[in-house]
Amino acid sequence: MRTIPVELPGARYDIVVGYGLLDAEVPRTLLARAVTGRRGLIVTDSTVLPLYADGLAAVLPALGAAAVDTVSFAAGEAHKTLDTVEALYHAGLAAGLDRQSVALALGGGVVGDVAGFFAATYMRGIRLVQVPTTLLALVDSSVGGKVGVDLPEGKNLVGAFFQPVLVLADLACLGSLPAREIRCGLAEIIKYAVILDADLFCLLEENVAALTRLDRALCEDVVSRCCALKTDVVRADEREAGRRAILNYGHTFGHALEAFTGYGRLIHGEAVAIGMGMAADLAVAMGRAAAVLPARQDALLQAYGLPCRAHSVARSAAAAILKLMERDKKASNGKLRLVLPAEIGRVDVLEFTDRDSLETAIGGRLG
Ligand SMILES: NC(=O)c1ccc[n+]([C@@H]2O[C@H](COP(=O)([O-])OP(=O)(O)OC[C@H]3O[C@@H](n4cnc5c(N)ncnc54)[C@H](O)[C@@H]3O)[C@@H](O)[C@H]2O)c1
Ligand SMILES: [Zn+2]
Repeated sequence: MRTIPVELPGARYDIVVGYGLLDAEVPRTLLARAVTGRRGLIVTDSTVLPLYADGLAAVLPALGAAAVDTVSFAAGEAHKTLDTVEALYHAGLAAGLDRQSVALALGGGVVGDVAGFFAATYMRGIRLVQVPTTLLALVDSSVGGKVGVDLPEGKNLVGAFFQPVLVLADLACLGSLPAREIRCGLAEIIKYAVILDADLFCLLEENVAALTRLDRALCEDVVSRCCALKTDVVRADEREAGRRAILNYGHTFGHALEAFTGYGRLIHGEAVAIGMGMAADLAVAMGRAAAVLPARQDALLQAYGLPCRAHSVARSAAAAILKLMERDKKASNGKLRLVLPAEIGRVDVLEFTDRDSLETAIGGRLG
């Protein structure tokens, strides 16, 4: 078990990473501190509810919670909406939650974002405990305090920065996660390695078989390293004024690909994997990185079953994908901000105006 302390100007809490946390002393003590004397509302989705909600609900009274209710909504990104949040407000009121109460977000990134936004806004804010259950949520969405929902116009357009009081990252939940969702989390893990940690990149290269079979010690090591890496970035720039943007490596391309193909055909991690390829190719074309970089990155992504090009999208779609990128909310002052690798473990954030080379880099990974 590892504990990663998070210290931000307005918040101090721990991320605990390990197996079977609800039975272990340290996380139980931390959880008791978060819930004692308070009403708790476990927020989860329809898939996670039958898997893990009873286990969490059962320990909370023993840890001193005054009362515990559980509420779930239909699983999937389509339900990451204000309607779902409103249903949670009603459920919170029906359960008698007051300003001292605590919400426990039990699920993947969708649950974490929705329940987090609920906690940030219910009675102007109640305590939040994140209990991530997907690999993506373990290494990414439960860390850093971004919460929010989608609008019909686009993803994550409404939200807040809202830090939890505790993150319980129980790796035992990976056992029930479908392989495609595991790969989605691996894409984010490879992203951290490329942007920040060359040693982690080598570790991922050397341990493909063990990590693919979810070796326990290795999962604990890799997940806690990623949580620490993201925590460091967030500490330096909680509100994404600058450096936090490096976490978007592959994402500006990936989001546009997801939007172009229609959400669901390529899942997020697959789109990001292809997006990292586009960013790396562009870095090479601009003379900012060596040609071996995209080759090594491709080899690692493929070793973990991730795609490096979008075969189903015609090369001629590059211009349309570029247009979607320019509409992305990260475009500012008419300029596109892109995260480009310089070498494994180091990236730069650039304002980018050369549309031709960008279109070439996108097209090179299509068809
Ligand atoms: N807040 C942030 O900083 C941040 C960062 C990255 C992504 N996100 C958001 O996260 C979301 C994606 O998260 P996700 O990939 O976890 O998707 P998700 O929450 O939809 O989970 C994927 C699927 O797996 C199921 N599931 C969850 N845990 C399971 C388990 N242990 N066993 C079996 N099935 C399980 C879910 O019910 C769902 O059907 C997106 O909405 C994205 O915008 C947020
Ligand atoms: Zn992502």
